[in-house]
Amino acid sequence: MKNNPIGIFDSGIGGLTVLEKIYELLPNEKYIYLADHENCPYGTKKEEEIKRIVTKNAKFLEIMGAKCIVIACNTASLFASDIRKSVKIPVISVIEPACKKACEVSKNGRIGVIATQMTIKKESYQKRILCDSKVPFGVPCSEFVDYIENDFDNHELGKKIVKEKLNDLSKENIDTLIYGCTHFSLLEDKIKEILGDINYIDCGSPTSILLKELLEKEDLLSENKNGSIKIYTTGEKVELEKKIHEAAGEVFNINSPKQLGVILFEKLG
Ligand code: DGL
Repeated sequence: MKNNPIGIFDSGIGGLTVLEKIYELLPNEKYIYLADHENCPYGTKKEEEIKRIVTKNAKFLEIMGAKCIVIACNTASLFASDIRKSVKIPVISVIEPACKKACEVSKNGRIGVIATQMTIKKESYQKRILCDSKVPFGVPCSEFVDYIENDFDNHELGKKIVKEKLNDLSKENIDTLIYGCTHFSLLEDKIKEILGDINYIDCGSPTSILLKELLEKEDLLSENKNGSIKIYTTGEKVELEKKIHEAAGEVFNINSPKQLGVILFEKLG
């Protein structure tokens, strides 16, 4: 089991920002990443549908031999307890570690959260921030997911969407922003233009630390000498490669076979 892969999934390429941080910390692990493009976006779907899709993804990763699962998606992490019930391996959600980190670094106690429509509606971040006696400012930004997945090379459009969505938030004197959607740190340059010099918290780093602790505790750290990454998609392989080139090219060098093997996964089920 120790040398089995770590399973990771997201609705698309956003979770690669989490995989990047995990791979940095745990380079000797094998990874299988599922980009569920067939069902992207998750954040504007109904709860029951998201639950059905995400439990199916977790089962797929378990069948592929994953020793644990990282839900590299905040919207899917809302249903972490359903996912945990559907598989027999440990499951990590990205919400708790990101929220904890944000509450630790915020000095003025005013924390912004940008996330999908569903993540903001379920108030998972807002409730945790309030529990820590801080003030949350949640902004639903599902439009960013569509932009990143489909129009990432159109910079003017990107700037316009980000400005429109974050203009009000820029007046709230927040000192910390949580990327409550794993896609959103791919927009960091544009977001910084509006919100300026504050703390930016992505899910990747705090989740990677939690994952390492889990693997140590469960005696599941790999004994492999080298790591590897295989990426599967429920969509089109060509499209996935294009999206990675355009949006996540800096995260992963798709031309480096040592680091990355992109494999087409035929539709689930
Ligand atoms: N990347 C995802 C998240 O962290 C979901 C985006 C979507 O499919 O709506 O919420």
